[in-house]
Amino acid sequence: MGQRETHEPLQIAARRLAAARRVVVFTGAGVSKESGIATFRDGEDALWNKYDAMEMATIEGFLRDPSYVWSWYQYRFGLVDECEPNPAHAAIAELERLVPELVVVTQNIDGLHQRGGSSTVLELHGSIRRFKCLYGRHGGFTREDVERQEERPPRCPECGELMRPDVVWFGEMLPEDVLQESFRRARRCDAMLVVGTSGVVQPAALLPYVARESHACVIDVNPQRGESARAADVFLEGAAGEVVQRLVSAVREIVAQNGLPI
Ligand code: OAD
Repeated sequence: MGQRETHEPLQIAARRLAAARRVVVFTGAGVSKESGIATFRDGEDALWNKYDAMEMATIEGFLRDPSYVWSWYQYRFGLVDECEPNPAHAAIAELERLVPELVVVTQNIDGLHQRGGSSTVLELHGSIRRFKCLYGRHGGFTREDVERQEERPPRCPECGELMRPDVVWFGEMLPEDVLQESFRRARRCDAMLVVGTSGVVQPAALLPYVARESHACVIDVNPQRGESARAADVFLEGAAGEVVQRLVSAVREIVAQNGLPI
């Protein structure tokens, strides 16, 4: 790819972000890939190429073999603990300081945006750091609550039902308040930066289309031009760590020259 081709879309994207009053950063598994967390669908190590999503990410799969599914999540808790936020998480956190209003809407359950410094993060698919009882009647349990018990999976201290990670499994509804707020933010944003999602899981995948319908500029960062790029005004090809960092540096330069939008 020539200098001009790579340079121009990035500058266009940076100008749109620097001019925006309200920004939504919408992320998927690809933003955490460079932290060492496998994505779901791309590459040999992709989780849904190695494991059966119907076994690991449905209530029926969990009920068929609770200890097997629990041990898989336990392995993933450990993995996430060992991982650090990468330059993409850091750059997204910096972008928050360069625009008047920014929210991160993530499909990830790993908590790396928060650890990377982002202050407003809407977790559409829940969090691997929280637990609830089987049907979600009691929730907000922490890792310490889990570790206090010997049984695996542990039991809900309120009702004695099996405990599970507070993540959205296939066939389940997304948390209503988070979903509503994410769509509200998408409708009123001026720019949406989409990073590292295949754009195939609904209803999350609609967010860039909602933003676009509301005349926001949609920027997609991904090493592959896939489904998510269809909604984009500007496609930036490459890994999140490098591209988002360069993009935010360009926004920083523009803001340093022009100041924040009124
Ligand atoms: P996917 O695994 O479907 O897609 C990951 C995307 O990241 C792909 O488009 C890759 O091309 C891209 N990618 C890979 N490496 C990257 C890098 N270094 N930088 C930027 N992008 C990179 O993951 P999601 O779109 O997040 O749902 O998947 C959506 C949902 O499907 C997940 O939240 C999960 C899963 O089933 C639930 O668990 C409910």
